[in-house]
Amino acid sequence: MSAAAEAKPIPLIFETGQPGRANAYFRNGRGAEEFLPASALRDDLPLPDNSELDVVRHFTRLSQRTFSIDTGFYPLGSCTMKYNPRINEAMAAQPGFRDLHPFAPTDLAQGALQTMYELERTLSGIFGMAQFSLNPAAGAHGELAALLMAKAYFRKRGEGATRTTVVVPDTAHGTNPASAAMVGYKVVSLKSDSRGRVGVDELKKALGPDTAVCMMTNPNTLGLFEDHIHEIARAVHEAGGLMYYDGANANALMGNSRPGDMGFDLMHLNLHKTFSIPHGGGGAGLGPVGAAAHLVEYLPTPIVVKRGGDGYAFEFDKPDSIGPMRSFWSNFAHVVRALTYICANGGEGLKEISQLAVLNANYVRAQVKEFLDTPYDETCRHEFIASAQRLKRDTGVRALDIAKALLDRGYHAPTIYFPLLVPECIMIEPTETESKETLDGFVAALREIVELAHTDPQKILDAPINTVVGRIDETRAARQPDLRWWPPRA
Ligand SMILES: Cc1ncc(COP(=O)(O)O)c(C=O)c1O
Repeated sequence: MSAAAEAKPIPLIFETGQPGRANAYFRNGRGAEEFLPASALRDDLPLPDNSELDVVRHFTRLSQRTFSIDTGFYPLGSCTMKYNPRINEAMAAQPGFRDLHPFAPTDLAQGALQTMYELERTLSGIFGMAQFSLNPAAGAHGELAALLMAKAYFRKRGEGATRTTVVVPDTAHGTNPASAAMVGYKVVSLKSDSRGRVGVDELKKALGPDTAVCMMTNPNTLGLFEDHIHEIARAVHEAGGLMYYDGANANALMGNSRPGDMGFDLMHLNLHKTFSIPHGGGGAGLGPVGAAAHLVEYLPTPIVVKRGGDGYAFEFDKPDSIGPMRSFWSNFAHVVRALTYICANGGEGLKEISQLAVLNANYVRAQVKEFLDTPYDETCRHEFIASAQRLKRDTGVRALDIAKALLDRGYHAPTIYFPLLVPECIMIEPTETESKETLDGFVAALREIVELAHTDPQKILDAPINTVVGRIDETRAARQPDLRWWPPRA
C-alpha cells in the first residue's frame, strides 16, 4: 500500500481528458465510424475523452493503491489467501483454452471437455464423493445448489412438506444460514460446546422428523476439527437428514481425510481458496458441488461424461437435476487453473500442502498466545482464533483497531468479528505458501501493536495513517456503499 506522501487523491477518469484525446496515438484520421456499422455507433454516452496513456496510468496507479496477495501477507481467516502460482495463469491463457467460444461444438472442444472431466474425477477422488458438478460460481452458490438438491431429493421421496429445517452450528459462515433461508428452509442454530465443537447430545435435541440437512464445516471456523464427526453423521442420518459439508476449509485436510468417508452426502468446494485460483480474478470464483452416489442424479447440469471411443460430451439429460446454476458450463479458466495446480502438486503434494498449512497456523498461534488470548488453546488446523476482549477492557483497543494498525505495517488485516461467538475475535489463516520470515515479521508487528496498545493506545486508535484512505464509517460503507460515478445532472 502506498505511503501517505504518495496518497494524493487521484482524479476520476471522468474528471480528466480533453475532447479529441482518445485518438491521440492513431494519426491516420480513421475513427470507429470507418469500421463499425452506423447502428452500432452512439454519441450519447458520457464517456471521458482520454488518451490511451492517461487511461493506462490511471488504472495502473489505482491498482497500486490496493492490497493483494502479490504485494503482501494476507492472513484473512477462512479465505485461504494463498499464492496463486503463475503457471496456472500460463495454462489458462493457452490460446486453445482462452479463445474457445462457449458455443463451440463439443467435437471441436474435446480438450476443454477433457479438462473439465479430469478435474471433476480428481475432485471426486480427493474428497470421496461420487460426482461433482463444476457449474456453481462460488462457495455460497455451491451451498445454494446443494440445498436445492436436498430439497429435490426429499420432494421425490414424498418428504418435501415435512423436512423443513436445516441445522447450522453457530461457528458456521453466514452464507450457510442465508443459503438455507433462500431455499425456504427454517434455520435451527446450534450452540457450540465448551470445546468449540458441535456436541452430539445438543445436536440430537435439534434433530427430528423435520430435519432436512445438517450443514457442517470441518475443520470449523474456529480452526478446530470436529472430532465427533462420525457420531454426528450417524445421528443426522438416523433422523433421516442429509449431511452437508462446507468445503471452504478444505485446505486443512485435502489429501489427509475425505468428507465422503466422514459421512457427508453433499459438499461444496471453494476452488478459489484451496486450489489457488485468484479470488475474484477473471470474474467470479468456482464452487463445485459434490454428491454421494444417492444424490448424483440431482447435481446441476451440465456434467461432462466420457463416452468411450466417442470422446467427451455434456450430459444434459438428467430429469431429476436441479438444472444449471449459471450460464454456460462453468468458470472455465478456473477449471484450467485448478487442474494445473493439482497436476503440479500431485496427490502427495496436496497432502503435504495441508500439513504445511496446519504447521504454519500452529507456528503463528504458539507465538500470538504470548500476548493475545487464544480462547480455544489447543493444536489448531489451518487457522486459529485470538480474542482482543481483554485488551479492549484494559486499553480500549479493539480487534478493529489492531486490524487497522496492521494495515499501517504492510499486512492485510486478518478476519475480525467472525465467528460471532468469540468476542473481539481475530481469525488468522497464514496458509502454507508463506515463509518463516514472513510469519515472524507478522507476529512481530502484532506484538508491537499490542505492546503499543498498553503504552500509547491513541497511536493504535488513530491507525491507519499510512494508507490512502484512513478510518471510514464501516457501517455506512457496508450498508450504503456508493461505488459508482454518476454524471452531473443537468
Ligand atoms: C466457511 C465458509 N463457508 C462459505 C463461504 C462462502 O464462499 P464464497 O465466498 O466463495 O461464496 C466462505 C467464504 O469466505 C467461508 O469462509
